[in-house]
Amino acid sequence: MDKILILGAKGMLGGELLKVFGRRAIGWDREDCDLLNAPELQERIESLKPEAVINCAAFNDVDGAEDRPEAAYALNAEAVKNLADICKGLNIPLMHFSTNYVFSGKRGEYAEDAVPDPVSVYGQSKRQGEIELQKQADKFWLVRTAALFGPKGQSELSKKSFVELMLDLAAKNPEVKAVADEINSLTYAPDLARAAAELVNDKKPFGVYHITNSGFASWYDFAKEIFAQKGLNAKLIKVPGGEFKRKASRPAKSVLLNTKLPSLRSWREALREFLIFGNQMKGIILSGGSGTRLSPLTKVTSKQLLPVYNKPMIFYPLQTLLKAGIKEILIIVAPERAGDYLRLLGSGKEFGAKFTYEIQDKPEGLAQAFVIGADFIGSDNVCMILGDNIFEEDFSDTIRNFKSGALIFAAKVPDPERSGVVVFDENNKAVKIVEKPKEWISDYAIPGLYIYDNRVCEVARQVRPSARGELEITDLHNWYLEKGELSVEKVKGEWVDAGTFESLFKAGELARKKALQGE
Ligand code: TTP
Repeated sequence: MDKILILGAKGMLGGELLKVFGRRAIGWDREDCDLLNAPELQERIESLKPEAVINCAAFNDVDGAEDRPEAAYALNAEAVKNLADICKGLNIPLMHFSTNYVFSGKRGEYAEDAVPDPVSVYGQSKRQGEIELQKQADKFWLVRTAALFGPKGQSELSKKSFVELMLDLAAKNPEVKAVADEINSLTYAPDLARAAAELVNDKKPFGVYHITNSGFASWYDFAKEIFAQKGLNAKLIKVPGGEFKRKASRPAKSVLLNTKLPSLRSWREALREFLIFGNQMKGIILSGGSGTRLSPLTKVTSKQLLPVYNKPMIFYPLQTLLKAGIKEILIIVAPERAGDYLRLLGSGKEFGAKFTYEIQDKPEGLAQAFVIGADFIGSDNVCMILGDNIFEEDFSDTIRNFKSGALIFAAKVPDPERSGVVVFDENNKAVKIVEKPKEWISDYAIPGLYIYDNRVCEVARQVRPSARGELEITDLHNWYLEKGELSVEKVKGEWVDAGTFESLFKAGELARKKALQGE
């Protein structure tokens, strides 16, 4: 199968292209390959022999470019020259992305053949990249796009899009200011990635293309629509661009006209999809508790740090989250063990992730995780796993495909009364959920893996302590169940909650099986 090489793979657009090309995609980011080291780049591309190269790497800090023109030109022009040279020599088509900021905005609307006249260092450096591409390569697609929004890229340097910026501001301030005299085309990154992939797959004629969603908007119009769709009532104030002290000049109106390709859906429609389905998935490992059932082992350490075959217990739930591509993980721990967790897991870098830590002063219930973790979760979805739960199943597709509501699991066990229990009707639909029922109602226990949309934080905030003094996770599930938005899937493969000596022993056996399978 022919490979597609995606450069800048950890950015917002790069990430979407990786998804669109699936198994064909090879993604490189700054740590994999230096685009300014032409000989090395040549060697690496030559040995990979991709069917096409797609360059999404860019210096896109518009104001920062005014202070650091060399850095902007290096990535936006010199790297493009290197790539164009190499691809020409190897006869590989090259796709490169540019921006509406190559135009001054005086004309307002620009077709593919309009003459660029940038007004900022960023725009000039991107224009220089276009020139290098057109001069060096003959098999190229130059795709101009504008005001990208979508799920944030994975790179630390990846910018938050305007949508998250506005939502963050609205969450923290009663009033939000938005610029009304700068008008742009807007682009939803997944739509752009699909359209760009079609150019490659359909072997469309080489040349310049403009790909954005249909319609255009000022930043004020965009913010207004974001707030309206989210039902937020933060006050939005129209301001002129000059209100914010920004180093770079920006075009007053730079709308990209697309005269070559079928038009994409409107930006409002794309925004709707993004606000409902486009959230990122954050991870939580709840690893507090007292572990009394494992005493005296737990007198000197936390249950979730005990060895399970060849690793500390928490490595298994951690692996479940990492495998699903979750990169931002909150680890909630008891105060007396916090240092041990930090020493063991650190920043997360070693695992290709970012770990945050919070203390749970007392084990006051599983649902408390969403009160403690509300700031960390922000406007995203969340997948929580308990630090003592080990699964054989790979949940990555399930977690990645989650859209909204709540998704929990069910496992047939001999002792369901140890946890929350779910009752199914004759159509296998979950109809009732009860925490540790005294009398038998079902064989299905609910394992410690839970996926929720962003509403979970608000619901958890409303939950009151139960008779045993805990914020019960069952209350969250019943809230979603009543709304008809709770899905329950049956677990495939083994599941162990390693909270007792017997199950800790079983966990070791499952872990050994996993290790022998190379996991
Ligand atoms: P449990 O096994 O129910 O509680 P525990 O770990 O305190 O053990 P024991 O009953 O033997 O005293 O908790 C399940 C998981 O959730 C476990 O990983 C600990 C964690 N947990 C917390 O971190 N905070 C809490 O408030 C609760 C209730 C559990």
